[in-house]
Amino acid sequence: MEVSRYRPGEDDEPVLQGYDVPLMPDWAVLDGLNYIKDRLDGSLSYRWSCRMGVCGSCGMTVNGEPRLTCGTFLTEYGDGPVRIEPLKGFPVIRDLVVDIDDFLAKLSSVRPWLVRDGEDLPLTTEYAQTPEQLEAYRQYSMCINCLLCYSACPVYVLDPDFLGPAAIALAQRYNLDSRDMDDRFDVLNLDDAVWGCTFVGECTRACPKHVDPAEAIQRYKLTAALRSVLPWSRR
Ligand code: FES
Repeated sequence: MEVSRYRPGEDDEPVLQGYDVPLMPDWAVLDGLNYIKDRLDGSLSYRWSCRMGVCGSCGMTVNGEPRLTCGTFLTEYGDGPVRIEPLKGFPVIRDLVVDIDDFLAKLSSVRPWLVRDGEDLPLTTEYAQTPEQLEAYRQYSMCINCLLCYSACPVYVLDPDFLGPAAIALAQRYNLDSRDMDDRFDVLNLDDAVWGCTFVGECTRACPKHVDPAEAIQRYKLTAALRSVLPWSRR
């Protein structure tokens, strides 16, 4: 495996360091990194937690593509080498660890909660949904915030102000929820939000959970265009 090593402030630029790792048939790329960390070089820094494609923390660039390292097998790459770099588009804190503060701020900016119109109902009030109403937004609720869609997006990599795929898909998760009364027009109808997307579709291709952010963005463009003609139209 060839692994990017970088300590900002100490190193001029990242360098690829080679390690000999056994090619076990059931080893994911993350197992290879753990082998390096445990047996060869304890100073290697990277993030992971669940090891089962749920927590979203182990995203890295594997042979040039954004991948979850716990769900990508070493055998996909033959005898190697397998090149591991941090996710593109994010500042590197150390080695394979990137700074996600901007991403978290973008998620927060879309009001990712159910917005009701000033109602003052008790917390115990239930808002029943039909299976069809759940299905309207269900795919967007599968996002695990792994950042792969941002790293795959050529718009975000060139323009960090772009709101980005996961945040817009998250906004649509709530916009399409029958219990929500917002449309997040003020944060989505912007040049740096849905209108910045050039519909390359790499975000959808990169998503390990089969969320379709490209569809969410194109759909909201239609919503925003209709709203400009019919101001009372919301979704
Ligand atoms: Fe949790 Fe890979 S370690 S998604």
